[in-house]
Amino acid sequence: MEYDEEEEKILKQVLSAFFLYRQYGHTLIQQKRKFMSQLSFDHKDLLLQDTDNNFLKHLSRLDDCVKQNSVVAEAIAKAGIPVFYPSFDVNNLPHVSNEMMQKVSSTLKQLTRDWSEESVDERQATYVPILQELDSLFPLDSNDRSQIHILVPGSGLGRLAFDIAAKGFSCQGNEFSYFMLLTSYYMLNCVSSTSEFAIHPYIHSFSNHVTRDHQAEKVAIPDVVPAEYLNHGAFFSMAAGDFLEVYGDKTSENRFHVVVTCFFIDTAKNVLSYLDVIKNCLVDGGYWINMGPLLYHFENDCASQHENPTIELTLDQLFYAMDSMGFNVLKHESTTTSYMGDKRSMLEWIYHPHFWVSRIQKANLQQFVA
Ligand SMILES: C[S@@+](CC[C@H](N)C(=O)[O-])C[C@H]1O[C@@H](n2cnc3c(N)ncnc32)[C@H](O)[C@@H]1O
Repeated sequence: MEYDEEEEKILKQVLSAFFLYRQYGHTLIQQKRKFMSQLSFDHKDLLLQDTDNNFLKHLSRLDDCVKQNSVVAEAIAKAGIPVFYPSFDVNNLPHVSNEMMQKVSSTLKQLTRDWSEESVDERQATYVPILQELDSLFPLDSNDRSQIHILVPGSGLGRLAFDIAAKGFSCQGNEFSYFMLLTSYYMLNCVSSTSEFAIHPYIHSFSNHVTRDHQAEKVAIPDVVPAEYLNHGAFFSMAAGDFLEVYGDKTSENRFHVVVTCFFIDTAKNVLSYLDVIKNCLVDGGYWINMGPLLYHFENDCASQHENPTIELTLDQLFYAMDSMGFNVLKHESTTTSYMGDKRSMLEWIYHPHFWVSRIQKANLQQFVA
């Protein structure tokens, strides 16, 4: 792969962040030890006398969990080097910001959503309606599914795109985050058995746990081995890059029969430009299937507002725009789900994402004016 200087710098930081995770994790736990040592004698004594919940022992257990997580983090980076950045020097890691390090922990947490038995309910609520819709639009007995080209922008850790390819469709995932790209590459190409490894997704937050055991909870990954399905004739690829840039020009015009977006369209600064690109890459009569909320990611990003102002449409504004652009809505419903939720936690964000199936009619339409 070829990168410009800025891109190369980001990739270097991301790979380094995976390698530095172990040190980062132990440092966070060491800080807790320090805070504990600063408590008053009475408070320390009180906590240490709770033999079922000895806090210092618990911190040692969390150190072991970090070690286990780091095995996965390092495996992801090591597998990615030959593919993404062969000249990367493991012995010369740059400084990596705290924000980048937190992304390693949240990527590990996201592994639970896409690749564990634990999150089957979340996938049932969000991915399964999409998969069922594809089954009913393109029944297996009357379609050569390998000729149906489906794009999944913002494909995250790749599970939805994989599930679509496993049904026999030609599927391309698209992602611009190297955390996601490296981890999905590892999951899709490098795991060879179910429950091959375990992660401890909740160790980096000390809040909202009912018990200490819960904080150290172990989640087995993966629940399915992608290579077993993808080697049997499914056409599956991942395209790295910004959705608007990769699919916005003439070369992507009419390339796909279906675009599937899941928890994605609200990542836009201007969702209308996503609609333009979805329309561009769909064939006339192609389908856009969406599942997700409108939690606009850039709404409160003051830095980005300066150079690139954002616009946050309501759902009814979005439907007006879709109608004007030639998207005919065939189905529209809403559902309820968590996202990277943790059922045992005392806090869980609940979304009411909307699900729709629309069909683009390109011919005889006036050009949409934004
Ligand atoms: C909220 S996550 C959803 C991931 C996955 N679809 C799911 O349902 O779990 C949104 C994803 O879109 C990716 N993303 C955001 N903006 C993008 C863009 N302009 N081009 C490609 N990917 C993008 C992010 O990196 C992130 O992985």
